[in-house]
Amino acid sequence: MTTAAIETPELGFRPSVSQYEQFRDALQGYALPAAIISLEAFDANVQAVLRHTGDKPVRIGTKSVRCTALLRRIQQTSPRFQGLLCFHAREAAWLAHQGFDDLLVAYPTVNPPTVAEVCRAIAKGRRITLMVDCIEHVQRLDVLAGAAGVRLPLCLDIDMSLPLPGLWFGARRSPIRSADEAVEVWQAIRSRRHVFLDGVMGYEAQIAGLPDADPRQRLRSSVIRRLKRISQRDVLRRRGDIVEALRAAGAELRFVNGGGSGSLASTAADPSITEVSAGSAFFAPASFDHHSDFDFLPAAGFALEVARIPAPGMVTCNGGGYPASGVPGEDRLPLPWLPEGLAYVSTEAAGEVQTPLINATGLAIGDPVLFRHAKAGELCERFNELLLIADGRVLAAVPTYRGEGQTFL
Ligand SMILES: Cc1ncc(COP(=O)(O)O)c(C=O)c1O
Repeated sequence: MTTAAIETPELGFRPSVSQYEQFRDALQGYALPAAIISLEAFDANVQAVLRHTGDKPVRIGTKSVRCTALLRRIQQTSPRFQGLLCFHAREAAWLAHQGFDDLLVAYPTVNPPTVAEVCRAIAKGRRITLMVDCIEHVQRLDVLAGAAGVRLPLCLDIDMSLPLPGLWFGARRSPIRSADEAVEVWQAIRSRRHVFLDGVMGYEAQIAGLPDADPRQRLRSSVIRRLKRISQRDVLRRRGDIVEALRAAGAELRFVNGGGSGSLASTAADPSITEVSAGSAFFAPASFDHHSDFDFLPAAGFALEVARIPAPGMVTCNGGGYPASGVPGEDRLPLPWLPEGLAYVSTEAAGEVQTPLINATGLAIGDPVLFRHAKAGELCERFNELLLIADGRVLAAVPTYRGEGQTFL
């Protein structure tokens, strides 16, 4: 189903009916488990992203959406949504074939068949930019682009983390941290015939993605907030210096990309940045619930069927074991969402085929229970379609990447 067929709901929930009842009514007659999107919340989040980013263009992070109908819905909202930040080069080629353009692949690859696929899309006039962070990436991509007879646009990934004694505050990404290191790779790009420098990306993961307001971990949260403030100053200075040095060395940059859903306002305010990335903001997954710069509405989840009642006050649902990637821990589990107050049984948590829950009153066999995934797009790896719900009814069912037969990682 295309987005053109999706109605645009009025904002706001029916006040007399609880959010749980709205979802329960909407899901009557639908197969469970089912992944759902609250369109009211999703659309409100799209508007909030625009507000938080001032007048800067926003590149949508596809890994946090993984549904072409929703990517189109966001893009149709405002011309400020420009381009996509893809999580895999094959994904970018696939999206290009469907008419999406200006695709920046956020992570490097030199895999020959993958790069060949990208080169074929470029040969057809699509704009796909591949990520590099070292001279070896540049050399290998130059050879592959030469063999395919195209000029490949490249983006330089610069590392924005903050190394401290005994603590690396940030994600392990690019080895490029200084202006000199960036200019060295730029010189390598300039010396090659089949590649050119298109832009720069400097993603401050430790600011945009790290929870810093967890009431269960007050001390840790206050330390993280302090480190974020220090890191923020470092990001501003270093990203600016690197961009300036590249320009002074003759680089013509179409874009300088930064940020993520948890840093939209601060990234947009950086004068060296020409565009901000946003992905998780649209679904607002549970991992962002304790993030001080994140005020988006929960918009995505999944519903499980109550299959049995093992004891009074307990229910057991079919399915539910969909943990998120990353360091294993309770915060990677889906969060029981609606009705409110449900909790896992500590000896079982979210199970492979069944999930018992406590604090369950008023639920009957056959009822749905709603959960929110810890991460945004990973939800879509478990389901073939998303049910778009508004005003207590399903307006449309749209395929996820998986539903279109596509998985990339
Ligand atoms: C390069 C890059 N930019 C931005 C983001 C932010 O994505 P989101 O807005 O979904 O948190 C990520 C997430 O991992 C990323 O890898």
